[in-house]
Amino acid sequence: QKNMRINSKGHLEIAGCDTVKIAKQYGTPLYVIDEELLRENCRSFYNGFKKNYPGNEVIYASKAFMTTAICKIIEEENLGLDVVSGGELYTALKADFPVQNIYFHGNNKSIDELTMALEYNIGCIIVDNWFELNMLNELALKMGKKPNIYLRISPGVEAHTHEYIKTGQIDSKFGFPLFNGDALDAIKYALTLDNVNLTGLHCHIGSQIFSYDSYKAEIDIMMNFLKKVKDTTGWEVENLDLGGGFGIAYVEEDDPQPIELIASEIMKTVEEFSKELNIKRPNIIVEPGRSIIGNAGTTLYTVGAIKNIPGVRKYVSVDGGMADNIRTALYGAKYNAIVANKARKINLEKVSIAGKCCESGDMLIWDIDLPQLESGDIIAVTCTGAYNYSMASNYNRLPRPAAVLLNNGESDLIVARETYDDLIKNDVIPERLLSENK
Ligand code: LLP
Repeated sequence: QKNMRINSKGHLEIAGCDTVKIAKQYGTPLYVIDEELLRENCRSFYNGFKKNYPGNEVIYASKAFMTTAICKIIEEENLGLDVVSGGELYTALKADFPVQNIYFHGNNKSIDELTMALEYNIGCIIVDNWFELNMLNELALKMGKKPNIYLRISPGVEAHTHEYIKTGQIDSKFGFPLFNGDALDAIKYALTLDNVNLTGLHCHIGSQIFSYDSYKAEIDIMMNFLKKVKDTTGWEVENLDLGGGFGIAYVEEDDPQPIELIASEIMKTVEEFSKELNIKRPNIIVEPGRSIIGNAGTTLYTVGAIKNIPGVRKYVSVDGGMADNIRTALYGAKYNAIVANKARKINLEKVSIAGKCCESGDMLIWDIDLPQLESGDIIAVTCTGAYNYSMASNYNRLPRPAAVLLNNGESDLIVARETYDDLIKNDVIPERLLSENK
């Protein structure tokens, strides 16, 4: 990867930091984030979508990886924030993220979550369904607010890694379906409500998408829908949120297009459709998560037990696993790894990297060629910035790892490692189970 190099000791260096030293200093497992690469990713989106289009927005999908420090960086890079829960919203508020640039998603926001969103006057609430639309309108009346809302539309396009399918009839828990007129009805209804301000439409077709054709299909359907909305209601949609999903390269076979290129293709297509359909070009909003933080993250582990089953497989176990990265077990995700203290690719042998959790599926990488390993070696699994920390658990009562920001030879802690006391801090033993009461 371009942010990595091998130093004179043969160690893996990220952002000018020797990862072997970093592993010693902070312990393992450890998430490290290359700050400059994270910022570069933000800038690619900014330059592609925002710089030449003042009304456009890029909002970071914080579900990919969120902490208060990350919010600060996103703010500095002039992006907005997509949150999907009270917890993410709380984190953003605690980081003093500008509220007008916060967008609140989710298919089942609670009344408490919506109350919090209204109380803090966040920029936009993406309303997913009829229940929420009515609840929000009533709540806003009670609180004397009038939030900006988008309606989430289910466009009937579903993108898979290399292709898209039109499902026509949509089977999804998200959004107002387009195919049966529900979306249009919801828009007509929302326009009559006094306590919400409908300012845009939202859609999202999937994640880890490589083909531009998928976005084109989405734009085609949505722009034609915008035209229909204008013709039937008179409302010209100002903002069109196309969601996130831009793919990244986890392993060599993955071949994503540069973001600037995708952005220019998307904007060109939107402009063409606007002309052809004779509607005003809507502002375009995108919500990248993985493509902002994914390749900026690396997880460092220490090798422990090594088990060789001759002729079958060599298992190399590390001090983390599915509790800090569930993606291999859950999705069959593929990762690459580098041995941080033997970063040169010599004396290779095929091994599989196992986690330490008590189940066979707890594997990080199946079959990878790495330099001969021994216990104590440091393994760096790359491209773990997105949906690793954010999906981490305490399975087997493993404390969640720390996270460290690396920049220009310096390292800063952004999430402290959990302690055993953190693990039991919410546990309660009912009085009657205490021995003194027996
Ligand atoms: N916007 C909406 C409405 C979404 O549902 C998502 C992701 C995004 C934006 C950001 O998508 P991204 O740019 O990160 O692909 N846990 C899975 C990914 C789940 C994505 C859910 N929604 C994984 O580890 O691959």
